[in-house]
Amino acid sequence: MKKPWAGRFTEKTSKTVEYFTESISFDRRLWKYDIEGSIAHAKMLGKQKIISQKDSSAIINGLKNIAGEIEIGRFRFAVELEDIHMNIEAALIKNIGDAGKKLHTARSRNDQVALDLRLYLRAETKKTIALIKNLQKTLLNAAENNIGIIMPGYTHLQRAQPVLLSHHLLAYIEMLRRDRERFEDSLKRTDVFPLGSCALAGTSLPVDRAYVAKLLGFKAIAENSIDAVSDRDFAVEFLTDAGILMMHLSRLAEELILWSTEEFSFIELPDAFTTGSSIMPQKKNPDVAELIRGKSGRIYGNMIALMTVMKGLPLAYNRDMQEDKMPVFDTVDSIKSCLTVLAQMMPQVKFMRERMHEAAGKAYSTATDIAEYLVRKGIPFRQAHEITGKIVRYCIKNKKQLGEISLAEFRNFSNVISKDIYLHLSAENSVKAKNSRGGTSPSEVKKQIKRLKRLIK
Ligand code: ARG
Repeated sequence: MKKPWAGRFTEKTSKTVEYFTESISFDRRLWKYDIEGSIAHAKMLGKQKIISQKDSSAIINGLKNIAGEIEIGRFRFAVELEDIHMNIEAALIKNIGDAGKKLHTARSRNDQVALDLRLYLRAETKKTIALIKNLQKTLLNAAENNIGIIMPGYTHLQRAQPVLLSHHLLAYIEMLRRDRERFEDSLKRTDVFPLGSCALAGTSLPVDRAYVAKLLGFKAIAENSIDAVSDRDFAVEFLTDAGILMMHLSRLAEELILWSTEEFSFIELPDAFTTGSSIMPQKKNPDVAELIRGKSGRIYGNMIALMTVMKGLPLAYNRDMQEDKMPVFDTVDSIKSCLTVLAQMMPQVKFMRERMHEAAGKAYSTATDIAEYLVRKGIPFRQAHEITGKIVRYCIKNKKQLGEISLAEFRNFSNVISKDIYLHLSAENSVKAKNSRGGTSPSEVKKQIKRLKRLIK
């Protein structure tokens, strides 16, 4: 097959080099955007009389036919034609003849590939945002349906203070809210139209860039042709946003793994979302959550990969930049599958109310409530902290829970303590009292649920 750029060459490209340089094996997934971009470009060439209306129409029809062929799997992608751009252009020329040779007027693969990747990432960013929203909804449902459940809140993975399970789940919804904002923000920089920059310098032909940008629904037009063909920071931003998203999903996954252990027994994972062991018949493994945690590593890697590809490149386009696609595609696939599987699994996770509640009341988890009680009785906080510390030490020594010591015993530590201390020792009352804005009291959490429901419509 003759290459579109064969003119200046006398020898054929080596087979090894063809396989080494090709990108068609992976960039074929850009075909829809490549054709969409070419149709808009051909319309503009006709409108500006750079080519005849007749040729413009022939090109557009030809491209639509090729789209149909690819759609039904009849198109033959050829490695000799390197990439998706040359595969489609060569097919067009083969199908419609000389008019096809005019499509690449006032265009280069450098601005073409920038356009394709921007169109692709614009669409995928929007899909990602929708999937994040969907996961937020399932978490919000779980928070609402389990509003009464009290669990131990942790710091250093040591039981710290009782909290509402719903409050804990809402924390993830907040992270996801920021993730969504990040994708929405980087979308603004992806949604910029690069075509018309050609190889790097622009063109002497009378193109109408604004017209093509409008046809393709772009919000902005790249203002520097050198930058437009050499910049991939919009893709790096996508990979970074994805990295932060995966960091959050991975933390949620880690908690699902931990909570489903015999040791915690806070949740039961649905059979349909766990797997067995090939040797130990009793096992039910949280592989879905583990894979989410594991994939986060690869997603970080993709971000580092592209930044490293880009960091030493002189302006403008360099072939190195073809290496942008694999990490981007891999990240798109991974985050979509993680968001989808989590959203399906979450509604089926069973929270073990009794067990969580029992754990929440133990380990002196209401000690801080005693300190705050003493503060309300006029004792400076540092002193209150010390007195409470001594009470806890006394309990540990005498093998008692906080609620099991008598008033007389309490008063040995401070004479401001009276009977009402017992109102502050249960996990329920501890939670109920955390009324500060954003705190864990049921009334606050209900407010937060209401607010988030409005935000996640
Ligand atoms: N396959 C190339 C890429 O993905 C398309 C651009 C090629 N441009 C060039 N001057 N060789 O980057």
